[in-house]
Amino acid sequence: MPKQQPPSFIDWYSSCLPVLDRLSDFLGDKSALKGVRIGWHCHLTEITAVAATVLVKTGAHIHMSECNPDTTSEPAVKYMRSLGLEIHTGASSTAKVLSAKPQILSDTGAELISAYLESGGSSVFGASEITTSGITRLRFLPKLSLPVIDINSGKLKTAIENFHGVGSGVVDALKQLSGQLLAGHCVTVIGYGRVGAGSAHYLKREGAAVTVVESDPVRALSAHYDGFRLGKLQEALASAEVVVTATGCPGVLSDEQWHWCKDGAMIMNVGHWANELDLNALKKIASAHKVGEHLQEFRFSGKQAKSIYIAANGSPANVAMLSGSPEPTLIHLTTELACMNYLTQLLSSKRVLGPAILTIPPEVEELTARLALAALSCE
Ligand SMILES: NC(=O)c1ccc[n+]([C@@H]2O[C@H](COP(=O)([O-])OP(=O)(O)OC[C@H]3O[C@@H](n4cnc5c(N)ncnc54)[C@H](O)[C@@H]3O)[C@@H](O)[C@H]2O)c1
Repeated sequence: MPKQQPPSFIDWYSSCLPVLDRLSDFLGDKSALKGVRIGWHCHLTEITAVAATVLVKTGAHIHMSECNPDTTSEPAVKYMRSLGLEIHTGASSTAKVLSAKPQILSDTGAELISAYLESGGSSVFGASEITTSGITRLRFLPKLSLPVIDINSGKLKTAIENFHGVGSGVVDALKQLSGQLLAGHCVTVIGYGRVGAGSAHYLKREGAAVTVVESDPVRALSAHYDGFRLGKLQEALASAEVVVTATGCPGVLSDEQWHWCKDGAMIMNVGHWANELDLNALKKIASAHKVGEHLQEFRFSGKQAKSIYIAANGSPANVAMLSGSPEPTLIHLTTELACMNYLTQLLSSKRVLGPAILTIPPEVEELTARLALAALSCE
């Protein structure tokens, strides 16, 4: 338990939606997690610190590694360390977590699971992965020798966090960065999975004129019938005052695409990997100037002189800025902790899961949804 008063952000985020408090009550004092070693690779934010507070109460031993330095909050890390959590940042952070021989892994982007598989370790009973990008990465592995619960493809994360969480975060982040309302602005959203769709819908609600660029014909057709204009990348970039990338693929905007962007355009990535925007290519053709905590201007000179603006160093801006409503993130963290509990219960009852990517058990999602409904007083 904390040796000091929790910082005010803990109370504030908890009170937005006390779903993690509900989970804490549900787990009680005799949680299966007591004494279990957990390796957790995640965004080290203030909202994660709320979930960490609940985990500490269970008596689990928690070892955490940093998912993305751009999303790490120093006050959150300081507070979590004061609770007794082992937190590692920097390049070797996953190796340090694995040296504690965790029994359960909870991952964001499959970094920790990949490092564990490469290390040839044998301590892990089971794992979970929260992101689309992480699950895609695991599917490309030649061999997966442990069970991994796919939280991302469940009903809950796709419906709430990926759509509403990112959508509300994109709108909020853009307003904070530009100081402008979005009505009447031309916005291009690249990628129309649940993340791109949520962004497009929330931007449309703000009155923006949204064009969708999507390479999958089925998804493109869905975007059309959802009421969005479809565009080709070059013309959509040429007219966009705001560009949102949501593909999870590297180099979506690279060499020539930077030339296609309109003067003054604001570019925001919400895909998991920062390399969705090829900033190395951009730095070769434009000079970088920091113009705000989360904003860089890139100036082009010569005949095509112009400036474009990159949010959050290309990292997912809604996470780096903790923008939008925290409710969806609190719900997905509750699912993540409920999954840790589920795996631990199997471990203590000596039930074995086969090595595979497994659908998240409906009872885990239903538990989280019931706790969220209770926290919302919607029961
Ligand atoms: N920022 C956040 O808080 C947050 C939350 C959840 C997920 N994510 C991440 O967002 C990304 C997208 O998630 P998703 O679930 O929507 O993924 P998804 O794979 O379902 O959708 C991505 C879409 O992008 C399209 N696409 C890929 N390359 C393209 C290109 N060059 N041009 C046009 N379209 C292209 C694909 O056809 C696909 O339809 C992932 O990296 C995921 O991990 C971020």
